[in-house]
Amino acid sequence: MGGMACRILNPHGSRRVLVTKELPGELWLERLAATDCRVEVCQTSAILSHDDLIDAIGESCQGAIGQLTEPWDEQLFDAFARAGGAAYSNYAVGYNNVDVAAATARGIPVGNTPGVLTETTAELAVALTFAAARRIVEGSRFLTAGEYHAWLPTLFQGELLWRRTLGVIGAGRIGSAYARMMVEGHRMDLVYYDPHGNDQLEAHLSAFNEFLMDQGEDPVGVHRALTLDEVLNKADVVSVHTILDDSTFHLIDAGRLALMKPHAILVNAARGPLVDERALVEHARTHPDFRAGLDVFEHEPDVEPGLLELPNIVAIPHLGSATGWTREGMATLAATNVAAVLQGWPAWSDPDDIDLFLSEAPPAAAPSIVNATELGLPTVGPEDRAGDSRPARRSP
Ligand SMILES: NC(=O)c1ccc[n+]([C@@H]2O[C@H](COP(=O)([O-])OP(=O)(O)OC[C@H]3O[C@@H](n4cnc5c(N)ncnc54)[C@H](O)[C@@H]3O)[C@@H](O)[C@H]2O)c1
Repeated sequence: MGGMACRILNPHGSRRVLVTKELPGELWLERLAATDCRVEVCQTSAILSHDDLIDAIGESCQGAIGQLTEPWDEQLFDAFARAGGAAYSNYAVGYNNVDVAAATARGIPVGNTPGVLTETTAELAVALTFAAARRIVEGSRFLTAGEYHAWLPTLFQGELLWRRTLGVIGAGRIGSAYARMMVEGHRMDLVYYDPHGNDQLEAHLSAFNEFLMDQGEDPVGVHRALTLDEVLNKADVVSVHTILDDSTFHLIDAGRLALMKPHAILVNAARGPLVDERALVEHARTHPDFRAGLDVFEHEPDVEPGLLELPNIVAIPHLGSATGWTREGMATLAATNVAAVLQGWPAWSDPDDIDLFLSEAPPAAAPSIVNATELGLPTVGPEDRAGDSRPARRSP
């Protein structure tokens, strides 16, 4: 593989699959080995450059599992197609790093790994929300620096979120899981913006309100805003959970930050470029009561100068999906996408119902192919497996 060190598994397999980073767990390897794949895993923690990736693809490469840090663009898909590439999967649910149109034009299915990140990433967004609201990092630094000499009534006052207003931008899988954690756990009123709405979330919260009222508690408010600006105006916490594409780049810019309440908390555990990071630094600097919890950055792994010095910013290095269960599940789904496509299996029709693929007896299908429709791939779904016994959901 060019000059790069790699670990080779199942060396006599007839199809070569490139995996650009070590992945956790074993099941993913078993799936590829069972499909007669020779698996080559790059042994570097550095981000692979374009040239590194072209070298790694080499002259013969039928499958690839890539990372969100890699630009899988037209040039790479050209090299991949020339090498016989027939199946690519991103090791992520987001695929803004992949030129899907370029892959489709070359007949290459592109997989992603939805579902297994949902609660994990939502929990991380909850953690960031409270870390920012309750000044956890500031307090921890103060203690570590030996500055804690006395309990004081005024020490590190933060924000109480109970019964306040939660703003969610993008109520898809992760946004709605986060909304339920915050609304059901902390009785927050919800105001959300999503061009597609989320009837299922609203139905859940309506049932939750029935429960609250049965218990003699006041119901929570649930409101779908017609504009993003309405969310920014009303919410005490605003958490962003949209996909990143041209239409959502810098969705939160200087003008939108100015619409937020002075003491508001902004959370971003989706994608860095959704927020204009330079504008965020300026806003946080001039609004000391405003706080932000950030998992992702506009120019990752670089961070806008000045951001990390601000006491009202909590920042962590893109850990949204970082639990063992999720990262192993992502590996299993990515490998199953590649293995299934290489065997000519159909695509699964419902990427929101993919737990079966984590079991010992997965369906004969690729769990999530984002360009299946464009490629005209046949599909099968849960309805085609009526006799299956389903595994217990979410068993870490
Ligand atoms: N931090 C991490 O490690 C991590 C982990 C997993 C996912 N993510 C990111 O989280 C985001 C959400 O993932 P998901 O699985 O919930 O995706 P999803 O597709 O289920 O949800 C995205 C939602 O955004 C909505 N949307 C699209 N454009 C919008 C706009 N302009 N304004 C408001 N809403 C809009 C869509 O209608 C959809 O409901 C993605 O950006 C993904 O890349 C980050």
